[in-house]
Amino acid sequence: MLDTIKRLKEEIGALNASDLNEVEALRIKYLSKKGEITSLFNDFRNVPAEQKREVGKLLNELKEEAQQKINSLKESVADSGRDDEDVDLTRSAYPVKLGTRHPISIVKNEICDIFGKLGFSIAEGPEIEDDWHVFSSLNFPEDHPARDMQDTFFIQRSPDILLRTHTSSVQTRVMEKTQPPIRIICPGRVYRNEAISARAHCFFHQVEGLYVDKGVTFADLKQALLFFAKEMFGANTKIRLRPSYFPFTEPSAEMDISCNLCGGKGCSFCKGTGWVEILGCGMVDPNVLDACGIDSKVYTGYALGMGVERVTNLKYQVKDLRMFSENDKRFLEEFKAAL
Ligand code: DAH
Repeated sequence: MLDTIKRLKEEIGALNASDLNEVEALRIKYLSKKGEITSLFNDFRNVPAEQKREVGKLLNELKEEAQQKINSLKESVADSGRDDEDVDLTRSAYPVKLGTRHPISIVKNEICDIFGKLGFSIAEGPEIEDDWHVFSSLNFPEDHPARDMQDTFFIQRSPDILLRTHTSSVQTRVMEKTQPPIRIICPGRVYRNEAISARAHCFFHQVEGLYVDKGVTFADLKQALLFFAKEMFGANTKIRLRPSYFPFTEPSAEMDISCNLCGGKGCSFCKGTGWVEILGCGMVDPNVLDACGIDSKVYTGYALGMGVERVTNLKYQVKDLRMFSENDKRFLEEFKAAL
């Protein structure tokens, strides 16, 4: 028995195979039910009791080695098989699959491009802001609800450091540093302490517009808005302005566009009215100009602000705001054509 174990040990150490069939034949030869090693286990009962301990140990080692050898042969023939058969080095490279631009980026770029045609240049500011740039300089009264804990994510209190709730803060940053003429468009992310649902999110994107110069009037604002609406939603788009209120503009207005789904006839999207709301705007309040070091007796200006998600929804009818931040490739790839 000891001799047989020794012989098999040597045999197994030297085993070789060139494909899976050969490996399988070796496995059958040694380890199957009638294999040589298995039959040694059957003979084990005839080993004298005083040798059982030693022989049993060697036998187990032999079986273990045989199994490892078969496994490693299997792996090596599988590897070499792949090298020989599956890899064609003359084949051209796989085409690289390109990603798509995010719908919010597509629409944001489009908005910026349209205002770019009117001479606006892009300005950006920080997302972490202080009270002055987000609220105080923009004429928000001390007790205005927008300053409330419920709307604003505060990072620190007194002095207040917070996540900006709108990109109007960039107006202040630019006006503090630059004298008119100022013609800027400010895209960016904003944050509000809202419960996340299909219609609200704790962060979203805005584009702010600001034009300050001598003699800027509400007529200039209306003209720019009409140009924007037609470029964005098509030449037949109509606009209407409704009086509204914002602390930083006087007078203030909200703009509707004729519903781009039904062309203004009335449908479920526009709730039968033929109009859908798109942005806020107005003439920059003289208090804001003065707070930022611009003489309100010499200069006037208009401002406007819109939500990029809102514009995207109007353009592409995305029903659930959460889609924009879920990174679902099926959703994102729908915007391939819009690149
Ligand atoms: N900042 C406003 C908001 O977050 C949007 C806005 C409205 C901006 C009117 C403006 C404006 O510049 O004139 O809701």
